[in-house]
Amino acid sequence: MRLTVIGTGYVGAVHAACMADIGHQVLGVDIDPARIAALTAGRTPFYEPGLAGMIKRTVDAGRLRFTTSTAEAARFATTHFVCVGTPPRPGSDAADLRHVEAAVTGLAAHLPAGPDGTVLVGKSTVPVGTAQRLADRLGTAADVAWNPEFLREGRAVQDTTRPERIVAGVPTARAEARLREVYAPLTAVGTPFIVTDPTTAELVKLASNSFLATKVSFINAMAEICDATGADVLTLAEAMGADPRIGPGSLNPGLGFGGSCLPKDIRAFAARAEELGLGESVAFLRQIDEINTRQRRRTAELAERLVGGSFAGRRVAVLGASFKPGSDDVRDSPALAVAEAVRVRGAQVRVHDPEAADNARAAHPALQFAPDVTKTCDRADVVLHLTEWPQYRELDPAALARVVRTPVIVDARHTLDPKAWRAAGWHLCAPGRPRLG
Ligand code: UGA
Repeated sequence: MRLTVIGTGYVGAVHAACMADIGHQVLGVDIDPARIAALTAGRTPFYEPGLAGMIKRTVDAGRLRFTTSTAEAARFATTHFVCVGTPPRPGSDAADLRHVEAAVTGLAAHLPAGPDGTVLVGKSTVPVGTAQRLADRLGTAADVAWNPEFLREGRAVQDTTRPERIVAGVPTARAEARLREVYAPLTAVGTPFIVTDPTTAELVKLASNSFLATKVSFINAMAEICDATGADVLTLAEAMGADPRIGPGSLNPGLGFGGSCLPKDIRAFAARAEELGLGESVAFLRQIDEINTRQRRRTAELAERLVGGSFAGRRVAVLGASFKPGSDDVRDSPALAVAEAVRVRGAQVRVHDPEAADNARAAHPALQFAPDVTKTCDRADVVLHLTEWPQYRELDPAALARVVRTPVIVDARHTLDPKAWRAAGWHLCAPGRPRLG
């Protein structure tokens, strides 16, 4: 089957490669010539396990090509996936649909006037009602379907080739048949295929991300209660998660959620609901957001208390800069927000990250970076473990105790072994686990 993928950012690059990998002929389209040249040469502009190899393999096999020409895309196929970004509008929480509009208008200009079986499939996360608006605009030129993506950074290839479900929001039988054909290799091995209308499909994505964010903020709110009462949030989360109605996923307490999706999606969803006069229905999302940003503030304040009440003349070592391990993405990274807050309050901050240091340096030029953990922790008054890279679990606490000025560490992600660190002479604090402190 021939299809195009318009937009070769995170979602688009992964979708294009995975669709080629399952056997389709795919043309990836982007307005950025540098990006197209890089992808053609098998280079991905971000770190994602398995993706570069998959692109190279499918390009070499002749199933994946890239272009900057929308006219070529319109000639190449009658199935087009729109995978462009929907960042927040400047100065607002609402989603900016400029890229979606540009992609659709650009393609529409090259479509034949009458119906030719074109199906436009949106994958971008958009405000409810967007598909309908685009359909009204395109008229008979194309069916507009919505097929949200649910991939997680760091597991994007796996999430796309072996998804938990495929949601096909289709306006016509033709669009449904087309999406069934696209995903036949996945449904053949048992992936559930949920057919609905485009509006419901748009909402599935927003509701799912809102629910995940709610779980994370819920357990972090419980961590605050634990801190005040002496209870232990890790045991609490484990016991709650054992109930299959609750489940253990997204119930890890810590510094909260960041990245390019959850924070922006819940804000855009709340803004859209307010626009529809339904702000009250999802008012809790504003609180979820507030609980989330509060964790960053609380961690910075905890660090300040631990160095004696003032950061003046203090050195703070930060372990982790990406918004989560397994990714070099620093967008809305909780770790960097804390590092920056601590720096602004007067500390000298040094940051380490195994993959995201370059991106972090570009986004936060005032922070200092060190190439390894030892240099990062050199003469530190407090160490903040903020992104749970697996290699930090393997650190030797005794060796690190000899490097720092004061052996005090905040394990904001709960992945260090408190016994081992305390045995090596460290004072280890973990939010929501007051009895450790
Ligand atoms: C998220 C969703 O998980 C995907 O299903 C969705 O497709 C994607 O957004 C998207 O909209 O494109 P992602 O941002 O890659 O994916 O990351 P998650 O693994 O969900 O983590 C999000 C943030 O929450 C991270 O900062 C992570 O550290 C934090 N988190 C996650 C917790 O603090 N606790 C948890 O238990 C889980």
